[in-house]
Amino acid sequence: MTGKPFDVLIIGSGGAGLSLALKLADHSVNVAVLSKFALTAGSTYYAQGGISAVFDAEDSIESHIEDTLNAGAGLCEPEIVKLAVTYGKNSINWLREQGVVFTEETVITGETKLHLTREGGHSHRRVVHAADATGKAVSLSLIERAMEHSNITLFEHHNVVELITTKTSANPNKAAIGAYVLDSKKQQVNAMSARVVVLATGGASKVYLYSTNPQSATGDGIALAWRAGCRVSNMEFMQFHPTCLYHPHAGSFLISEAVRGEGGKLVLPDGSPFMQHFDPRGELAPRDIVARAIDHEIKKRGIDCVYLDISHKPADFIREHFPNIYEQCLKFDIDITKQPIPVVPAAHYTCGGVMTDSYARTDIDNLYAIGEVASTGLHGANRMASNSLLECLVFADRASEAILKTLADIPAPPAIRDWDESKVSNSDEEVVVSHNWSELRHFMWDYVGIVRTNKRLHRAMSRVELLKREIAEYYGNFRVTSDLLELRNLVIVAELIIRCAQLRKESRGLHYTLDYPDTDNSKPPQNSILIPEQFNH
Ligand code: FAD
Ligand code: SIN
Repeated sequence: MTGKPFDVLIIGSGGAGLSLALKLADHSVNVAVLSKFALTAGSTYYAQGGISAVFDAEDSIESHIEDTLNAGAGLCEPEIVKLAVTYGKNSINWLREQGVVFTEETVITGETKLHLTREGGHSHRRVVHAADATGKAVSLSLIERAMEHSNITLFEHHNVVELITTKTSANPNKAAIGAYVLDSKKQQVNAMSARVVVLATGGASKVYLYSTNPQSATGDGIALAWRAGCRVSNMEFMQFHPTCLYHPHAGSFLISEAVRGEGGKLVLPDGSPFMQHFDPRGELAPRDIVARAIDHEIKKRGIDCVYLDISHKPADFIREHFPNIYEQCLKFDIDITKQPIPVVPAAHYTCGGVMTDSYARTDIDNLYAIGEVASTGLHGANRMASNSLLECLVFADRASEAILKTLADIPAPPAIRDWDESKVSNSDEEVVVSHNWSELRHFMWDYVGIVRTNKRLHRAMSRVELLKREIAEYYGNFRVTSDLLELRNLVIVAELIIRCAQLRKESRGLHYTLDYPDTDNSKPPQNSILIPEQFNH
């Protein structure tokens, strides 16, 4: 049964989804926000370093633009970069209005001002932060505000299975009208309808064996949009963060780039630094360079990890700036005030995604995509640190502007037929799902990771084809579960990453292949764009 339609259905309760919800709800728009797990499940909650914005008197918008373009290796859309960077200060001020408390410092004159940290690729201190747990501060404030808002209904443990679109005689274009949603607690699929649907589902780094991301980052929004008919671009640019804690029991704990920004040195097991051999900017070179350098050293020397050492800084400074990292490492008997931290690179951020315009509109009418799920042109071939939360806020604002302008003219969605479960039964072979999850992540790590080759991509694609067939058969026969839905989406994401990587006959930004190790400067840089009609689903 379809319930009462909402004005706007937002899929995702991270920084992007909740910011948009609050902006719309303040204008009397009736909004539903879904999260497939708890409200804090997305990457936003785990963000550490901060949000980039120009506040320092020595800094400038032009400089932030230039750094972003440089990191993006020729593929950023300059107009989008300008739009995002110019909005930086507003977005921080808006977050402060929502109750987010950022770290401040007292300057010589006795005034307090925002403390700005530094990260790779930034030529100035411009990262606004809440100690080393910025995402938690942002997430909790936005959730608190959303819970108080009478125009927002929050649905936890609601996992979107498929988008619902329609065409009418009045509008021959495909338009989004809702989604089929698995209520994981009740194990029941319901239809939810709305005038406007927004994907704010985050990234896809869980397609790799090692990732800094939480469980939710399975690229669902990218797969949903692709199946519904949206173009997807630049998926080869998966960003690997250089410094994830290396410890058998640590899971995926990030050691913020701000540790390097505040003087942390990368060293080999014998204590010798190595970054100077790879880039004159050393530890503060953009992420692709640092991650590749670490990967190179690990493979060349047959070592398990390298080390990040900030122990030369005063212990009080370290505890004050990095309380979260200090505490977490201490749990594994690593005292970062006294000893170096073992680190390895891990999949961290999806630069590509669902193609949108500057108002977050996708190829389907009334379907928007904001945050990490989207490919806006801001990041190009490599995202600069702390530009992601900025993007979430900027495009939440742009989408709200577009939705508020058009909402009144969008007709109420038609009735949607119920989810049909008449031909499926409960699975008696869950092992297929868990086995395929593990196989997919292993071969993506080994064949489509930091360093690629034509042969490895080809091998990975053969396995994707096999898995796709198996998963489709399983999906056709059994009742859906959250794990199955994620696996079905991940295999599509893997395919899109490989297809984009195969299109690119050069190395650029985050995409590095031994078969084409150089950047092709003989022609203007091209985005890798995939069009659903050109492929068999
Ligand atoms: P998310 O915050 O990931 O939220 C996604 C939401 O979508 C979740 O609510 C999830 O439950 C929901 N969802 C997904 N699929 C479905 C589905 N099928 N049905 C229903 N709901 C669904 N960026 C910075 O700019 N600065 C930083 O300091 C920084 N640090 C980081 C540290 C870590 C450890 C990580 C992992 C990332 C970091 N990033 C940072 C990146 C940044 O945090 C993310 O890019 C950003 O938070 C993404 O926000 P989002 O709202 O797009 O998605
Ligand atoms: C970090 O704190 O290193 C993560 C920053 C980011 O991904 O932008």
